[in-house]
Amino acid sequence: MSSARRRSLLLTVVATACLAACANLGGGGGGMAAKSSTGIPLGASGPHDVQPLPDKPRFGKAVSEADIAAWNIDVRTPDGAGLPPGRGSVAQGREVYAAKCVACHGADAKGGSVYGTMVGGIGSFKGSPRVLTPGSMYPYAPILFDYIRRAMPMDRPQTLSADEVYALSAYLLNLNGVVPADAVMDAQSMPKVQMPNRDGFMIDDRPDTQAARCMSNCK
Ligand code: HEC
Repeated sequence: MSSARRRSLLLTVVATACLAACANLGGGGGGMAAKSSTGIPLGASGPHDVQPLPDKPRFGKAVSEADIAAWNIDVRTPDGAGLPPGRGSVAQGREVYAAKCVACHGADAKGGSVYGTMVGGIGSFKGSPRVLTPGSMYPYAPILFDYIRRAMPMDRPQTLSADEVYALSAYLLNLNGVVPADAVMDAQSMPKVQMPNRDGFMIDDRPDTQAARCMSNCK
């Protein structure tokens, strides 16, 4: 037998062996010949069990109460609901201010490299220029706590302890002449502070804020 003829015989044997074996590959019993109930050839995959559909999408995971608590830091400013435990004095606030705030807000909070004064301006709203500071503008003292805790120091927000934020609030309120030098701020005392601009805001109750919601056949 020539070597070319021997090679071709060998190939034929291999191909035949494969045809026999490969026909069994489909699994599930049907193999290449399997068809769907409507006669569509199923190819090599053959029939297979269909997974039941999940009863709902299962993306992500439930958020824990502890994770939510870390974000739930707003204070209801008129009555201070949500103010945390802790306390701080004017003197303590002066020290924290010197370490963490003075670089941007300047000595005695009268203005620095990044922001203008946070002191004074009380009574300036009917004139020009108006001077907006916590003392001249905020109607309720707990706004100051909420703002500092949430946003300051601007380059490291939410790094202050509750005690530090109370102390800084006491210090800034004292610089504005709103509380005495021996004042201590905490969840009880802070909502009682009377801010000079307490009555300087008006409720915007124009009629359209009271319109009933309508989704169909609206007039
Ligand atoms: C890196 C600079 C920087 C540092 C540090 C910083 N602040 Fe501020 N602060 C700002 C800027 C800028 C604003 C104005 C932000 C705006 O108007 O959106 C601001 C605004 C404020 C306001 C609002 C003032 C207003 O008129 O309503 C308060 C209060 C305040 N900062 C307190 C603090 C306290 C307290 C510290 C220290 C713990 C501090 N800041 C540290 C940059 C800084």
